[in-house]
Amino acid sequence: MRRKFFAALIAGFMLLAFGITSFAKPIVIKFSHVVAVDTPKGMAANYFAKLVKERTHGKVIVKVYPNAMLYGDRAAVEALQMNAIQMACPATAKFTGWLPELQLFDLPFLFKNAKHLHKVMDGPVGQKILQLFRRKGMVGLAYWDNGFKVLSNNKHPIVLPKDCKGLKFRIMSSRVLEAQFKALGASPQVLPFSEVYSALEQGVVDGCENPWSNLYTKKFYEVAPYTTETYHGYLGYVLITNAKFWDSLSPKLREIIKGCVKDATEYERKLAAELTKKQRALVLKDPKVKDVVLTPEQREQWRKVLVKIYPQFYKSIGKDLIDEAIKEGQGL
Ligand code: LMR
Repeated sequence: MRRKFFAALIAGFMLLAFGITSFAKPIVIKFSHVVAVDTPKGMAANYFAKLVKERTHGKVIVKVYPNAMLYGDRAAVEALQMNAIQMACPATAKFTGWLPELQLFDLPFLFKNAKHLHKVMDGPVGQKILQLFRRKGMVGLAYWDNGFKVLSNNKHPIVLPKDCKGLKFRIMSSRVLEAQFKALGASPQVLPFSEVYSALEQGVVDGCENPWSNLYTKKFYEVAPYTTETYHGYLGYVLITNAKFWDSLSPKLREIIKGCVKDATEYERKLAAELTKKQRALVLKDPKVKDVVLTPEQREQWRKVLVKIYPQFYKSIGKDLIDEAIKEGQGL
């Protein structure tokens, strides 16, 4: 009789515990970004949301807001610091004012290729930079890729650096990008990503710089059909979360989400490489697009002009970090 009573009591407790957990409201992570859904970042954000839902059995739900529908550009970082959103994945250039060391990733001609870039991101330099996010109430979870940038404009074909003289280029709010276009004799103009198409259309700017994926998905080539494959700099992201939110999760949930970040990062980087090729081909299919592919000698001229801006950033980024990053590329 006593045994039956205890069995019923335990069953009652289990039912109650199960009931409480299964009816408990899920933890919601609002994830805001500015690009289209069919970009590497857009697709990986959705993949990450799927993994989190599956692996936490619905205890954590990631709601993804693409195309700057919640916040544009830098506003997303401010919103994240206030915990109005819990995740974002802004381009490294957007952190200029908060964490100047991140500008390393925007320096033109710093990375020889994707292998070099990933060696820096995943090695001591990149990991040291990720730790800095705590200083600003954020946690840097991972680096996500987009790709190396091409120029596009609606005035004339650009082959050499001198062809940029006098042109107005849209930039993200980044001191490195500002210095880069000034070194080319062009005039840089800061604009949010969501305004680039209309700014090109209305002549507010003449050109912009983007990886193929952004150029294709936002159709910038329709209003800036002269493309130049300079691949002078890189555009990539840091997946970030609010530090207080992150610390409030149970260690078990944090471990599960870390695993989802790892798998989504692997997926994202692979996808970025694939989409770059695919979306470049789609842009070039448009008969209005006039594309310039540089010879190694022409590209060397760009490199010589643009590396001259490095000393301006020795102090804010740290010369040691720049030198260490360059060293990682030896032999690659
Ligand atoms: C930009 O403003 O050009 C980028 O931040 C867009 C992106 O890929 O997030």
